[in-house]
Amino acid sequence: ARLVVLVSGSGTNLQALLDAIAADPDGYGARIVAVGADREGIAGLERAERAGLPTFVCRVQDHPTREAWDAALAEAVAGYEPDLVVSAGFMKIVGKAFLARFGGRTVNTHPALLPSFPGAHAVRDALASGVKVTGCTVHFVDEGVDTGPVIAQGVVEVRDEDDESALHERIKEVERQLLVEVVGRLARHGYRIEGRKVRIQ
Ligand code: GRF
Repeated sequence: ARLVVLVSGSGTNLQALLDAIAADPDGYGARIVAVGADREGIAGLERAERAGLPTFVCRVQDHPTREAWDAALAEAVAGYEPDLVVSAGFMKIVGKAFLARFGGRTVNTHPALLPSFPGAHAVRDALASGVKVTGCTVHFVDEGVDTGPVIAQGVVEVRDEDDESALHERIKEVERQLLVEVVGRLARHGYRIEGRKVRIQ
């Protein structure tokens, strides 16, 4: 399967996918054909370039409207003819134009146990809420914010001494493994989305 991965930051989830594919290029069942970002100058793009991958940047401020940006992102992604799009720390919400083309085959990874703590501050919100366990979720992207059908989740305990970055780092250790495992399974076995349920063949 052909993957396009979208990033906005350090790209350690992208790196986990790159490493898993490099370790077993034939067995993994997928390869990354391009990496896209919503901003320049991030480690995620450097990781892609180091791996010799094509990259593209689609910045909101370069477009007259949010809808125009969404359409441009869809166009850029479509150019690489992906089977699956992986949002790995991509910090923008895609819209109708993007979902018209890639809805049902775009997965996102989120550092909380959805539907708890959606949005851009999941780890901070979990800490503030006093929960004893949190975790990460890989889900299909729909028109909402972190609301699409859940594919897999991983649980991470919250420790008394945790601050946001310590807890997020511990979540990311689980998240990277979960994402690698889920993307490989979707790519190798195919899947069906039935309402809120995801069936992997
Ligand atoms: C991940 O925890 C992702 O779920 C969240 O931001 C983090 C991105 O990490 N949206 P990285 O860029 O993959 O290192």
